[in-house]
Amino acid sequence: MNGKKLNIGLFGFGTVGSGLYDVLKRIGSKNVDIKRICVRDMSKKRAVDAEFTDNADDIFNDPDINFIVELIDDADAAYAIVKRALQMELPVVSGNKKMLAHHIEELIELQARYNVALLYDASACGSIPVIRNLEEYYDNDLLTSVKGILNGSSNFILSKIFNEKMSYADALKLAQDLGFAESNPTLDIDGWDSLFKLIIITIHAFGLYVAPEKIFTYGISNMNDNDIRFANEKERRFKLVAHVEKVKGNKLIMSVMPQLISRNKYIYSVEDEFNGVVIKGLFYDKQFMFGRGAGGYPTGSAVLSDITACLYDYKYEYKKRNDSQLPEYTTDHTFRVYYRYEDYADLDLLKFESVSENYISDDYKYVVGCVSLAELHKVQEELRKRNVFIAAYPND
Ligand SMILES: NC(=O)c1ccc[n+]([C@@H]2O[C@H](COP(=O)([O-])OP(=O)(O)OC[C@H]3O[C@@H](n4cnc5c(N)ncnc54)[C@H](OP(=O)(O)O)[C@@H]3O)[C@@H](O)[C@H]2O)c1
Repeated sequence: MNGKKLNIGLFGFGTVGSGLYDVLKRIGSKNVDIKRICVRDMSKKRAVDAEFTDNADDIFNDPDINFIVELIDDADAAYAIVKRALQMELPVVSGNKKMLAHHIEELIELQARYNVALLYDASACGSIPVIRNLEEYYDNDLLTSVKGILNGSSNFILSKIFNEKMSYADALKLAQDLGFAESNPTLDIDGWDSLFKLIIITIHAFGLYVAPEKIFTYGISNMNDNDIRFANEKERRFKLVAHVEKVKGNKLIMSVMPQLISRNKYIYSVEDEFNGVVIKGLFYDKQFMFGRGAGGYPTGSAVLSDITACLYDYKYEYKKRNDSQLPEYTTDHTFRVYYRYEDYADLDLLKFESVSENYISDDYKYVVGCVSLAELHKVQEELRKRNVFIAAYPND
């Protein structure tokens, strides 16, 4: 595609779609032009002078359009758009982590079959170029873990709680008022958004795809004042951490859950709506990537970076997926956790392998102990429904 001009058919003109549009206008690229924009609702007023449609065919049937950018908030429709683009041998950039986390294996196969690129660096951590770095730079044998704060909304809420002593409810309301959290914030605060990003990151870090339903995912919505006091007393903070790590026997563990983070950790000081990713390896110890994980301009500029990469015929090669030593996913791994519960039936929910602290008072009960990831995964729905809260509590 080098030397050619990209005529883009853009799907979606919300936060990211309009962010991309503005970024492109500001830089005045000669090689990249947004030819037509497909949206859901044509009656909405748009403050730009561009050609809009609500019919995908107007984009796919336009012979001048040679590039698709998909930035819509509907994962099923996004899947249909991306698949159709690949089948038409049109390169495509997507930001839809939910769609990718469910369909990436098929989309990898389609990219190979039609020899066409699908890039999605913007889908995980917005402006932080984590996917391309993991893909190109970090060798599978040396990489040991990728861990981070991948969701800006939940991190914003936690920052307000720990820095400004806000209540959980007030912090959530502020996040919504400022546009960091959706009116239905479940995807962010219950960990799903982080999970989707973790799945995408794991493909590029270790070559392995693990389906969302296999991974223990738990958010911050059950956290209460007692939990916050516990963290403060231990001089730690809760952070919602997504985590993939190679453990003994070339196995991989994955989880999304709150963690009690001590001051000496990089992610302790990732504040507000920012994201931070720590990459650990055998000989380089750890490296830290930090930046804006969301927002129209940061994400729009990451999309532009993918578009520009396509101008130079860049494709993800998924080299690690062909590794004969591909790691195997396991939940057979033990974590130390803090578990706050209401009554003894809640305590019986989890089989602890050992307990090192057990506190009981009329209005606050907790244990600190070791429990397996398999055990946590088995009861993840119950942990969400009951008046309990669980967080990883690493020794360091
Ligand atoms: N927001 C972020 O900071 C961020 C960061 C990284 C990745 N992402 C991802 O980027 C994508 C877009 O996010 P966003 O925040 O920009 O969403 P948004 O502000 O809610 O905008 C969504 C856009 O998609 C359009 N749309 C929905 N269904 C459609 C369909 N079937 N056909 C055509 N257009 C359709 C909507 O049209 P109308 O305007 O007519 O309603 C709207 O323009 C999502 O996958 C999101 O996960 C977002």
